[in-house]
Amino acid sequence: MDRYVVFGNPIGHSKSPLIHRMFAEQTGEQLDYSTSLAPLDDFSAFALGFFHEGRGANVTVPFKEEAWRLADSLTKRAQRAGAVNTLSKLADGSLLGDNTDGAGLVRDLTVNAGFSLSGKRILLLGAGGAVRGALEPLLAEQPASVIIANRTVEKAERLAELFADLGPVSASGFDWLREPVDLIINATSASLSGDVPPIASSLIEPGQTFCYDMMYSQEPTSFCRWATEHGAAVSMDGLGMLVEQAAEAFFLWRGVRPESAPVLAELRRQLAL
Ligand SMILES: NC(=O)c1ccc[n+]([C@@H]2O[C@H](COP(=O)([O-])OP(=O)(O)OC[C@H]3O[C@@H](n4cnc5c(N)ncnc54)[C@H](OP(=O)(O)O)[C@@H]3O)[C@@H](O)[C@H]2O)c1
Repeated sequence: MDRYVVFGNPIGHSKSPLIHRMFAEQTGEQLDYSTSLAPLDDFSAFALGFFHEGRGANVTVPFKEEAWRLADSLTKRAQRAGAVNTLSKLADGSLLGDNTDGAGLVRDLTVNAGFSLSGKRILLLGAGGAVRGALEPLLAEQPASVIIANRTVEKAERLAELFADLGPVSASGFDWLREPVDLIINATSASLSGDVPPIASSLIEPGQTFCYDMMYSQEPTSFCRWATEHGAAVSMDGLGMLVEQAAEAFFLWRGVRPESAPVLAELRRQLAL
């Protein structure tokens, strides 16, 4: 049976095996997908060992940049992102690196939530790996503007420069902004500790602004709670992004696009237990 894994450290919490098993069942694809705890000091040799037999791998924290360096070739979106979350073994034995995180985010927003990004004013909070992966797919939707706001402003400035040729992208500090935007995406790790980035609540136009937290949890995240309290039209977490980035990887590996809605519903049900 074709073997797939998700590499990470730690990795025990990963929902990827469950998601890919449901995709395989649904599409009738024969595959085996499991977690793989990669060593922090020797990711490359460990991953190459798996690929003697293995067909594909997802890559999560903290190995996405190492996977980017390991890949023999890169998709355009992965090249720009500087991070790889999906590795595929090609027919000639070489490894192709892709980044499906941003495509997953865009699909969750545009298809699952029905929110068109075209002509919208978007505020991205954070300037880490998730934002790097999201920028090209977001800019491809032709928003009116994308502002990257980050605690360390220089990191936001570097990203804005790197992606400037793809669309209207600029950098900011959290507390420099006042005017309402159409969409706020929280891609900081602040929710992990129950914090919310210190942005002005006037950025939310009550009943209009869509708020999205890349993080997800059983209870609404701290950012989603903050957004709801200040009148956001929608506050949505990142569980759909997780399922959609997996669906993109599955499609890349198997050439079949699974239906994400029933898988998302099952994950949501399990999260609530
Ligand atoms: N749903 C999904 O499928 C999915 C996929 C990818 C990522 N994510 C989520 O997205 C988030 C970011 O991931 P990442 O890979 O980009 O992480 P990362 O590369 O480590 O970047 C973390 C970012 O968060 C900022 N930050 C950390 N703590 C903060 C705080 N207390 N207040 C304000 N800003 C803070 C950092 O700012 P500095 O630059 O100033 O340090 C940096 O911009 C995580 O919550 C992750 O779980 C979800």
